[in-house]
Amino acid sequence: MCGIIGYTGPRRVVPVLLEGLRKLEYRGYDSAGLVYFLDGGLVKHRAPGKLEKLAAVVDEQIGVASFCGLGHTRWATHGIPSLDNAHPHSDCSGNLVVVHNGIIENYSTLRQELRARGHRFTSETDTEVLAHLIEEYLTDDLPAAVRAALARVDGSYAVGVLWAGAPKTLVAARNHSPLVLGVDAEASYMASDIPALLPYTNQVIFLDDREMAVLTPGVITYQSVDDGRSLRKQVTTIEWNAAMAEKSGFRHFMLKEIFEQPQAIINTVSGRIVPDTGRIDLPEIGLADEVLAGIERIALVACGTSWHAALVAKYWLEKWAAIPVDVDIASEFRYRRLLINERVLVIAISQSGETADTLASIRLASALGARVLTICNVVGSTMTREADGVIYTHAGPEIGVASTKAFTSQLAALFLFTLHLARVRDAAPAEQLAELGQALIDVARVIERELPLLQTRIQVLVERYYDSRDFLFVGRGLNFPIALEGALKLKEISYIHAEGYAAGELKHGPIALIDKEMPVMALVPRDSVYRKSISNVEEIKARQGRLLLVGTQGDGHLSSLTDDVLYLPEVHEELNPLLYTIPAQLIAYEIANRRGCDVDQPRNLAKSVTVE
Ligand code: F6R
Repeated sequence: MCGIIGYTGPRRVVPVLLEGLRKLEYRGYDSAGLVYFLDGGLVKHRAPGKLEKLAAVVDEQIGVASFCGLGHTRWATHGIPSLDNAHPHSDCSGNLVVVHNGIIENYSTLRQELRARGHRFTSETDTEVLAHLIEEYLTDDLPAAVRAALARVDGSYAVGVLWAGAPKTLVAARNHSPLVLGVDAEASYMASDIPALLPYTNQVIFLDDREMAVLTPGVITYQSVDDGRSLRKQVTTIEWNAAMAEKSGFRHFMLKEIFEQPQAIINTVSGRIVPDTGRIDLPEIGLADEVLAGIERIALVACGTSWHAALVAKYWLEKWAAIPVDVDIASEFRYRRLLINERVLVIAISQSGETADTLASIRLASALGARVLTICNVVGSTMTREADGVIYTHAGPEIGVASTKAFTSQLAALFLFTLHLARVRDAAPAEQLAELGQALIDVARVIERELPLLQTRIQVLVERYYDSRDFLFVGRGLNFPIALEGALKLKEISYIHAEGYAAGELKHGPIALIDKEMPVMALVPRDSVYRKSISNVEEIKARQGRLLLVGTQGDGHLSSLTDDVLYLPEVHEELNPLLYTIPAQLIAYEIANRRGCDVDQPRNLAKSVTVE
């Protein structure tokens, strides 16, 4: 979704804004713009399309002596991607500008009212309303005018405001859309996400809903949007560094992040399995053993790839912790009757911790009395602040739009939680749980060893698959969600139509799609459902489907079924989802790359979906 960057300090602002926007590109966008303060007025540049277009437009101003400004990447919601609709948006005078991420739901009523009062609009966006509304209330106190305007607005916003009447000053405000501020001794920053701040500072402040900030060089003050009451905020130190958000020699962030998975899993597990006893230690979980022991049901809520992690966790939790588990897509969860109470534990899974539907789901669940835990990758993100407890995945910044290392780290965190709950509920013998903990560490090492070999093998195979029109992924049991994940990865980055199915479900409809043109990637490890999976594969072969099998080393039967087999070492059956994800990610990546797709920024997609 849209990206915001703002800066006031001693540096020349245009390069800071462009660099910040580059760091936010991964959020997804279709146009970009920036504005800076110069010679008592505001200078605005905008361009539809990629950031290079904006960079070309501002090329001659790169070294301009301006030290305060705002930048924005727009992911269209109201109004097509175009020059006129690109942010920043101005008031009638052009002396005040706004950048915004979110949706102003009552914009049409406000627009009519403002038009009737003589305001002239130049775009179709909801955001422009805000610029004119602030203009209506502005005398000489910018924060007061912003507060008055926001009081009239329904919906979500992260906004940055710049006014020619208050040089070196930026006003920021947030409601349901992420906004993080950065501080150092001489400068102040605002951004939609942490990676944009990392080149300058790791000292950040997360604005909460209905909070505002006034930024001047090196000084930020905070106030309530509702009544202007001043607020004190805590600084959080971010452990990530700027290099972690670079490609480091890889062609794409996605590939780098695929290769970072063994380390991300180790980092997620590390220090959380107590040596000798194998007990799991989750210090930020925020839920005492007695509370967990009293839980009667778990509801897992997430979107997209994180939802696939939830589907895997259902198998684990029901098997090892002997507790009933529901899994919901957050956008469905929030709009149905919820049978949730204080005996239900709701676990929200999210890389970003900002996904609008997942966030709304935890708010609903809390209001109904449920305990809420979040499995999250971003320290200090909204979900981590609103949940009763957190299990952080320590995957480091994930920049590729297609989630990879966050997914396998979520699986690792969910597996740790399963072992923890199994012990608390006395659902499985301690030795067995300790053995499973060790198996989790082992799988990270196996992935590390296999990754380069798999990539080489897949690069060859891809020649036979890259021009497919459709693709099926199938798996059973723990690998069914991985089939869904494989299909999602392929469709989102290569634009090939792909579906994931439980292998046993094929004959209930999808098998009608099978012919000699249809590639089917089947995940068939030697596990407890192996024989059933092989029968499904035979059914595909009998209908001339093009089989690409992924199975266990030494399983010669697979190569009698097709030439295209990817063999993986045997790991503990429970950990197969982590291992079998890797070939699914790589096949998607190599196909997309071979097709010349924009792997890291696929069309229409945003990394962090902060509107519903
Ligand atoms: C797919 C992908 C998305 C996200 C989804 C949830 O590769 O990345 O499906 O998984 O938008 O995002 P988070 O995990 O940030 O809540």
